[in-house]
Amino acid sequence: MPAKINLLLAVGPVRADGFHELATVFHAVSLYDEVTASAADDDGVSVTLSGRYGSGVPDDQSNLAVRAAHALAKRRPAVRRPTVRSGVRLGIRKEIPVAAGLAGGSADAAGALLACAQLWQLRLSNAKLATVAASLGSDVPFSLLGGTAVGTGRGERLRPVPVGGTLHWVLAVADGELSTPDVYRRLDELRAGRPVPDPTVPDELLAALAAADAPALAGLLHNDLEEAALSLRPQLADTLAAGRDLGALAGLVSGSGPTCAFLTRDADAAAALASGLAASETCADAVAVVGPAAVGA
Ligand code: C5P
Repeated sequence: MPAKINLLLAVGPVRADGFHELATVFHAVSLYDEVTASAADDDGVSVTLSGRYGSGVPDDQSNLAVRAAHALAKRRPAVRRPTVRSGVRLGIRKEIPVAAGLAGGSADAAGALLACAQLWQLRLSNAKLATVAASLGSDVPFSLLGGTAVGTGRGERLRPVPVGGTLHWVLAVADGELSTPDVYRRLDELRAGRPVPDPTVPDELLAALAAADAPALAGLLHNDLEEAALSLRPQLADTLAAGRDLGALAGLVSGSGPTCAFLTRDADAAAALASGLAASETCADAVAVVGPAAVGA
């Protein structure tokens, strides 16, 4: 299941339910968590974690993938096969950094939904699966979809958008985490008294994606959460400056951060930028990825 970055994250006013109205462009990239589901001897849900970031998430019932399996299990009675047990042992190989603005937890939840639906032989429509996904988190429906998509509402209403080729990115992974609710809260504080326009996706951005025109896209990348993430983590300004100095076409904070994503011209430029950033001491790690990435790849 791929990580995501947001090519645009326009944050509108706070809604009555506490979420912010968004206009965003999700873009799945080639950094993957692997999620497996195998039959359990009982009716419980358990998870075993491995991989580089496996120790960064809980392995108990609070794990979002475990909650996803429970949420799906509730949908079973109407369609279940009597011969199939309802327990599951989930396995997650975590290569996506945790609480990093890359939707790693959402990727795991989406992976658990797909793997359990297969294990339990559920024949749920994509729309039903998306409803379960939205109940788990704003980014989970996109994590089921992959590719590139405009997200509206709180991010769960999706419209796939075509991308005319491969885009080359570098992810600068930070030490430590940022809490998404904290970043939204800080944005609200910074915006107090300022007018907040309704969020929209500019047509130029969709045209640049359709043409896979990296230089044009570079001028259109924008994240409203960036000022809040920078306010909570000022060192990220050094990461962004380092990436730009090292030749990135553009750079921005991914989602609620603290990962920074840099757009480059091609694979060679991405490889060079990744090694330059890794040596810059402005981030913990830097990895070259491509997008859009497909689910299941
Ligand atoms: O939906 P999810 O659980 O990922 O959201 C985490 C938190 O991020 C929410 O509790 C809320 O504070 C913030 N959020 C928001 N508006 C959104 C999405 C997330 O305020 N559209």
